[in-house]
Amino acid sequence: MIKLNTINLETKLIQGPLAGVSARPFRELVWQYSKPAYTCTEMISCKTILHDRDFVNQRFINKSPLEKVLCVQLSASDPRELGEAVKIVTDMGADIIDLNCGCPKKKIRSKHTGSKLLSDPHMLYQLIKAMKDNTHVPISIKIRVDGTSNDNFNHDIVSVIKDAGADLLVVHGRHWQENYETPCHYEQIAFFANELEIPVIGNGDVASLETLKNMLATGCAGTMIGRAGVGQPWLINQLLAELDEACIVKPAIKKIAAIFLTHIERLCSLLQSETFAILHARKLAKYYARDLINRHAFCAAVNQSHTFNELQQVCGNYFE
Ligand SMILES: Cc1cc2nc3c(=O)[nH]c(=O)nc-3n(C[C@H](O)[C@H](O)[C@H](O)COP(=O)(O)O)c2cc1C
Repeated sequence: MIKLNTINLETKLIQGPLAGVSARPFRELVWQYSKPAYTCTEMISCKTILHDRDFVNQRFINKSPLEKVLCVQLSASDPRELGEAVKIVTDMGADIIDLNCGCPKKKIRSKHTGSKLLSDPHMLYQLIKAMKDNTHVPISIKIRVDGTSNDNFNHDIVSVIKDAGADLLVVHGRHWQENYETPCHYEQIAFFANELEIPVIGNGDVASLETLKNMLATGCAGTMIGRAGVGQPWLINQLLAELDEACIVKPAIKKIAAIFLTHIERLCSLLQSETFAILHARKLAKYYARDLINRHAFCAAVNQSHTFNELQQVCGNYFE
């Protein structure tokens, strides 16, 4: 169990934020098939929250009754705006609020948000303080690491987190300029776990018992799973069972197709558009088809589908 100031997290595995994926239908499936410590929304800009709070609630937050602990992830560059946004998302039901300090995208960095904040410790301090001053819920910070760069921000981040009083730190073990081919810097995750008294969550490339054990060996209190959770909402339960030297039976291939279709059907109602939901289905297909022998043909057929009915037929043809 991981203890935060106002809540106890029941397990040590978290489903992380994934832009374009982590809407309510995805998170709901994770809770249906696993017992995560918490799930996360995708990153939401404070400005969007301040200017269109109803849209944000409907499209990005929309907490499900199944979600015991939901973390809302924000991007920000202005402490005053962030404080206001934090009040709003607290009212919308956020159980944890996270500040994104890891996004490497040019568009995000150019607004002085995401990973850009790692090189501005003074601003980061002010942002964390603004969060703490405007909510009672735990505050988490999601960062990337120095990696092999000359940035040397790891030490500064430790000081800022201690001084500003964040409650949880999530560390993706890569520098913002490193892509997914670069192996994670486990020793840098271990550095944060060692230096800080608050729980540190390790993140990067965890997809199996072996990779999970490597991550936990850093001394982190828990692990955040990103990509591997897509298309396998049972993964967290599988890994928790395997850690206890037990095992769970993975859903049969037909059941996986049914979960995929449920995901898309729920996206149809969330987005109120079959067309948009089918566009999502095209992106999600490869994740649900991990175990299919004719995976490429299946994805190609999903790409040719335009309606939910067609998608059902394609699933029927391939998931036998
Ligand atoms: C498609 C995609 C979208 C992502 N969106 C976000 C996001 O909105 N916020 C965030 O903090 N990280 C985001 N990430 C990063 C992941 O949360 C995670 O840190 C990273 O993928 C490493 O973990 P993994 O190897 O378990 O996937 C995204 C990653 C991917 C691949």
